[in-house]
Amino acid sequence: MLADHIFADFQPRHAQLFGRHIINLGHRLHESPLFTDDALARLLENAPRSSYHVNTMDPTTHDPRTRREGDIVGLSGKEVLEAVRQGRIWILFQNPGEADKAYDEMPADIYAGFEARVPGLKTFRHKMSILVSSPKVQVYYHADAPGQTLWQVRGVKRVYVYPGTAPFLPQDRIEKIILGEAHEISLDYQSWFDDYAKVIDLEPGQMLHWPLNWPHRIVNHDCLNVSFTTEHWTSSLRAAYLVKYANGVLRRYMPSARLSESVDGPAAWAKFGLAGFVKMSGLQAKRRQRFTIDFRVDPLAPLGVRNIDAYALQK
Ligand SMILES: [Fe+2]
Repeated sequence: MLADHIFADFQPRHAQLFGRHIINLGHRLHESPLFTDDALARLLENAPRSSYHVNTMDPTTHDPRTRREGDIVGLSGKEVLEAVRQGRIWILFQNPGEADKAYDEMPADIYAGFEARVPGLKTFRHKMSILVSSPKVQVYYHADAPGQTLWQVRGVKRVYVYPGTAPFLPQDRIEKIILGEAHEISLDYQSWFDDYAKVIDLEPGQMLHWPLNWPHRIVNHDCLNVSFTTEHWTSSLRAAYLVKYANGVLRRYMPSARLSESVDGPAAWAKFGLAGFVKMSGLQAKRRQRFTIDFRVDPLAPLGVRNIDAYALQK
């Protein structure tokens, strides 16, 4: 699909808002043949184990401790979709291009479209993930390291986006996420945070982009949801990332210091150097994630979830 056909209502003002404020715009990617039931069923059958996560959780409360990891074994793609439609399951495909190269064209087109509309924008390291999720399931309160955009394809989800500063995002918490020392959903959440959130019911053909690292959480309406996220970096996002990375390293030695997040001037340049050195040196070990898999997707089981003997999966 040509980049010119992706955006339905991008106005010049959105170029000024991009990256600085929340923007909620129309798109046409929900009409793509890559998101039909047949296409998603093929993706489910062809995705290697390393490229998907399947979760279930208690949809009645915000409690990350109820979130479980599962697997998909011996089912057709259509059977998995049926389990998602009837159950309480959330599936994430992290590299759909591994199963079908056609998916790789989508983020390239999207960012070409953004760059054509936002003067001076130059993005790199694009990534796309596809989410297929059950009625009412949720994604708990979290913050992501790269620039993020959420695109709605089918169903409706309520998205809460919170300001990217304390108390919603304490500096030391985002540093730990960036250093790989904490999971994204480890952020503390209080229900009163919602009074300060922008709340959007995202419908098919709508996208949402928010400023770097702003926390968010998502609750599906009572319907099957198909969505995807795109991630990107720019030189200024990268600079902000490196400063937070260096601040996280420095905070170990001066836990109560007020560390500037400025990306300009000699202090920032020193932090770029420190972050680069720590990254290159291997002093900060990359977190290898170990998951406990304790359920299997089963369209015949209640909520599409059958308990199995737990086993460990290293990713
Ligand atoms: Fe996110």
